[in-house]
Amino acid sequence: MREFSADYLRRTRDGMWDSRESLSNLDLDSRQRVLDIGCGTGELARVLAEETPGEVVGTDADPRLLSVAEEFVPCVAGDAHRLPFPDDCFDLVVCQALLINLPDPVRAVREFARVSSDLVAAIEPDNSSVSVESTVPAERTLSRRAREAYVAGTNTDITLGGEGTREVFRAAGLDGITTQPHHHAKTVEPPYSSRDVEAAKRKATADALTDKRDTLVGPLSPDEYEDLRTEWREMGHAVVSQMQENDYRRAEVVPFYVTAGRI
Ligand SMILES: C[S@@+](CC[C@H](N)C(=O)[O-])C[C@H]1O[C@@H](n2cnc3c(N)ncnc32)[C@H](O)[C@@H]1O
Repeated sequence: MREFSADYLRRTRDGMWDSRESLSNLDLDSRQRVLDIGCGTGELARVLAEETPGEVVGTDADPRLLSVAEEFVPCVAGDAHRLPFPDDCFDLVVCQALLINLPDPVRAVREFARVSSDLVAAIEPDNSSVSVESTVPAERTLSRRAREAYVAGTNTDITLGGEGTREVFRAAGLDGITTQPHHHAKTVEPPYSSRDVEAAKRKATADALTDKRDTLVGPLSPDEYEDLRTEWREMGHAVVSQMQENDYRRAEVVPFYVTAGRI
């Protein structure tokens, strides 16, 4: 199982649900019992708890992350393929960025359908279509190179997005499938937060690429990987210099899709 740090999840979900219109197909205002599977630190679970009058329960296979989510909603440790709940005991079962991490998402969605009496939903990104604009021109092209290699080297489909998730839902036997786009826009501009400064420092050390070496080498040769790291570090130093002058600006859009299907 791919592991995520609590810091990574907090950082990448920051501001994601400031606007909640794309959750309208989940009928949150009339739900009684909602399950968030693969809830991680509870970034989605706390949004669901704010939007529904019903109870929200979080489940994840990683107890370190669940200990954070427990601050917001009741949690039960469990595997998405063998949920520790009886049939039909939730009226909405939902996950966010879980299916893209599973080798057999159809099997998992069938299990979600077993424990739901009404609706199953998945909020999944298409990681091949992330866009980056930056005042450091190399950042856009290097991000694209790293992303293409990462997508090619990952052994699950991290590009599911809307179309891929619809196919998974159809294969799992769900009906009345709907999809709403939810594009998560993230901007970095002055005044920079401590998180922005940390992210710039990580670029200057190319730590993110080091962490992903096993995935990137394969699609990239070892030499191409080292070249990418060298160029990435140079780009990171340019980001840090621009930040010191308050000149750095970056805009990223991660396209997520809210897909829902009936039992
Ligand atoms: C990318 S994170 C998403 C976390 C959270 N849903 C969010 O969007 O912030 C994927 C989560 O799925 C969990 N996970 C991965 N495989 C799982 C499985 N088979 N059963 C339950 N949880 C799983 C991971 O521990 C992690 O918390």
